[in-house]
Amino acid sequence: MRISTRAQRIEPFYVMEVAKAAGVLAREVAHTDRPMIFLNIGEPDFTAPPLVQEAAARAVRAGATQYTQATGLDHLRERISGWYKSRFNVDVPARRIVVTAGASAALQLACLALIESGDEILLPDPSYPCNRHFVSAADGKAVLIPTTAEERFQLTAAKVEAAWTDKTRGVLLASPSNPTGTSIAPDELRRIHEVVSQRGGITLIDEIYLGLSYDDAFGQTALAIDDNVISINSFSKYFNMTGWRLGWLVVPEVLVPVVERLAQNLFICASTVSQYAALACFEAESIAEYERRRAEFKARRDWFIPQLNALGLNVPVVPDGAFYAWADCTGVAEKLGISGSWDFAFETMKRAHVAVTPGRDFGTAETAKFVRFSTASSMAHLQEAIARLRAMTAQ
Ligand SMILES: Cc1ncc(COP(=O)(O)O)c(C=O)c1O
Repeated sequence: MRISTRAQRIEPFYVMEVAKAAGVLAREVAHTDRPMIFLNIGEPDFTAPPLVQEAAARAVRAGATQYTQATGLDHLRERISGWYKSRFNVDVPARRIVVTAGASAALQLACLALIESGDEILLPDPSYPCNRHFVSAADGKAVLIPTTAEERFQLTAAKVEAAWTDKTRGVLLASPSNPTGTSIAPDELRRIHEVVSQRGGITLIDEIYLGLSYDDAFGQTALAIDDNVISINSFSKYFNMTGWRLGWLVVPEVLVPVVERLAQNLFICASTVSQYAALACFEAESIAEYERRRAEFKARRDWFIPQLNALGLNVPVVPDGAFYAWADCTGVAEKLGISGSWDFAFETMKRAHVAVTPGRDFGTAETAKFVRFSTASSMAHLQEAIARLRAMTAQ
């Protein structure tokens, strides 16, 4: 069968190979005194809190399961708008919010609405692999720009300016980022947006981890800068609803009918049950629970990062958000007689029964040096993982 060049352009998700191998080994060691600890998982270890679960059950019982309008339940758009006001003190009118099937659908809609065939979009290297594939699936070209620890592994205005060509259509940023958990400083973001706007480009920013921000200096939405910024967000991470497949997109008003038309045709709507459930995310009781969980993620970060550094798994920038640690494993790998983060990940899995994610999927610049640890695991698991890594590196 002839496969489209578009589909062929999508690179394999190498992480899945590691995850598969970890799954096989996990079954083998499940009943030993060292079962596998999964620090390769990119989703919260918490589930939706009680009010959200009850709201979903109520919607099912009431038969509130028909399609909604493509832009989502008005009440939910209002609630998201209210969240921007209460959490970030930013006015984002509900009419600019489009509810989607996760940030993934939001990214797809934004890319399809704005990217012409051959348009180039600038992204940082490292970055979340699917983001460059959304660009590519819209027939655009993702241009990865190597970043440094000094730049918090994010694009800078100077780099955007230097990389801009007549084919460049805009930037796709993520703040805080996956895999680094680091954000763009607000002033730098403002400068990036200025460079982009002066060239008639678009600033797309994936803010899916913004709710899980631990530092007031960074925890601000880019929507505060300008109504032309396009922000992608989700119920997956802060709201602990990964499998519910619900997110949203904030666009300038002129884009709403365009995105609506695309959403009507491509998705009809996001899951109705999930939308009714998500209304309960914004109840005081749920927010209080989310804030407790955010504090737990922060406590894990505060404990885990110094431990990694002490093992020689150097985390060059302390993450200010999300639940990741981007650690340079070259020194430790050399000591163990292996080269590169890919082999390091397999070695760690085999010797310590700790699954981590090698840098490979996230770009090409320095990704052979780095592994991503996820702290979306209990403190007990993190402590046990560090003890095993210490034993492994001491051998
Ligand atoms: C940076 C980033 N963007 C988007 C997504 C997709 O999220 P969603 O579950 O909302 O589709 C993820 C998921 O891990 C992510 O890390």
